[in-house]
Amino acid sequence: MTGEQFRSLGYELIDFIADYHDTVADRPVQSLCEPGDVAAQLAAGPPEHGDGLTSLIDDLSTVIVPGLTHWQSPTFHAYYPANASGPSILGELLSAGLGVNGMNWATSPAVTEVETRVMDWLVDLCGLDDGFRSTSDGGGVILDSASSALLTAVVAARFRAVGHRPAAELCAYTTAQAHSSVLKGMRVAGFADDQLRIVDHDPVFAMQPEALAAAMSADADAGLVPFFVTATVGTTSSCAIDPVPVIAEISKKHDAWLHVDAAFAGSAAVAPELRFVNAGLDQADSYCFNPHKWLLTNFDCTAFYVRSQQALTSSMRIVPEFLKNAASESGQVIDYRDWQVPLGRRFRALKLWMVIRWYGAEGLRTYIRHHVELGRGFDAWIVEHPSFELVAPTNLSVVCFAHVDGNERTKHILEQINEDRAHHLTHTALDGRYTIRVAIGSVRTEQVHIEALQADLAALA
Ligand SMILES: Cc1ncc(COP(=O)(O)O)c(C=O)c1O
Repeated sequence: MTGEQFRSLGYELIDFIADYHDTVADRPVQSLCEPGDVAAQLAAGPPEHGDGLTSLIDDLSTVIVPGLTHWQSPTFHAYYPANASGPSILGELLSAGLGVNGMNWATSPAVTEVETRVMDWLVDLCGLDDGFRSTSDGGGVILDSASSALLTAVVAARFRAVGHRPAAELCAYTTAQAHSSVLKGMRVAGFADDQLRIVDHDPVFAMQPEALAAAMSADADAGLVPFFVTATVGTTSSCAIDPVPVIAEISKKHDAWLHVDAAFAGSAAVAPELRFVNAGLDQADSYCFNPHKWLLTNFDCTAFYVRSQQALTSSMRIVPEFLKNAASESGQVIDYRDWQVPLGRRFRALKLWMVIRWYGAEGLRTYIRHHVELGRGFDAWIVEHPSFELVAPTNLSVVCFAHVDGNERTKHILEQINEDRAHHLTHTALDGRYTIRVAIGSVRTEQVHIEALQADLAALA
């Protein structure tokens, strides 16, 4: 592809993306495709000769877009959001365009130094404690996902507990409300499933600290080693918030590593009045949240902080001859390859840098407050409606509710809502109760979209 060809197709694609965003609200939010529909429209084998991407825009419009669920639609309230704002999309493009691999400082100093600066900016923006700044013993890194952050934290915690060896005596703790990535991370790190203890939660789906204390003490008394606790701030099902300050005290007694997963909720901390989400973080060994969920930054971008850079890097660092270089050996630079599982790393920090510069602290606060306000309004509507009731308290902008007639009726309503493709909602089960979740946090969601959802729910109630 020549520079001229790149320019011409590139301009066309930027127009295509801009048009897509301008019209996404008018599309059925969930794809109408049946299994195999998209594949049936693709050539069975690769072309022998390049086709020059002729008719690409047509193919995108007729084959690809109809096969999408429109996560950027203002009526997408399923799962948790996946924010893609203009500046972040351009940052992503720039990252691909520059095409560098920032595995070590020396392989592209700007990749490391922008990332370090942006992670420190997030400490300021979210009001995190100074122990997560790059200038302290700790610091932050951008990973691909909260799941990777969890795995990385487990590996660091195991190393701190027993070094690099299999560890049948180690026990980890979380609740059934924690994300499945906790169990997955433990499995990937080589632990047996029963090394993860499931601690009871309370009626609002938060960890019961007494149950944690009892489980850890029982294990310690039995000669086992409690080594890792995952607390969740904003659980996936109901956005419940574990009591991190007291969990931190209990963890400390056993010298267990405390990881706090605030994948969705952490972004709320850009608004000072919502910093209850930070409670106890100053006692955590590691912490992560996903700007790619709720901070206007497109997937993938997980902010992962550790209290001790050394605890993390000593668990991860392997220095083969081909990676040795003077800068690393000087001890003056950060090599983020030692903060993650993969070696290679792309320039993810660019998109966060562009998002923060574009919106500023004020723009980010306004954005989060807007969704929280919409969530409160929707919560009040559910409370007032005679046929619906809340199944969990509304934290931030996540509303969990059910029909008063029970699970079958609730399930039917959800199916009807999604059938029409005007809104996209998903469900969960909360202590056996079939629950509809409305997670408000898409870039274009406004009051009018919530009112339309209320009208459709009321018609089905
Ligand atoms: C609380 C929580 N933790 C972890 C995850 C996993 O996120 P990721 O896709 O970044 O691994 C999610 C996803 O929704 C989540 O809600």
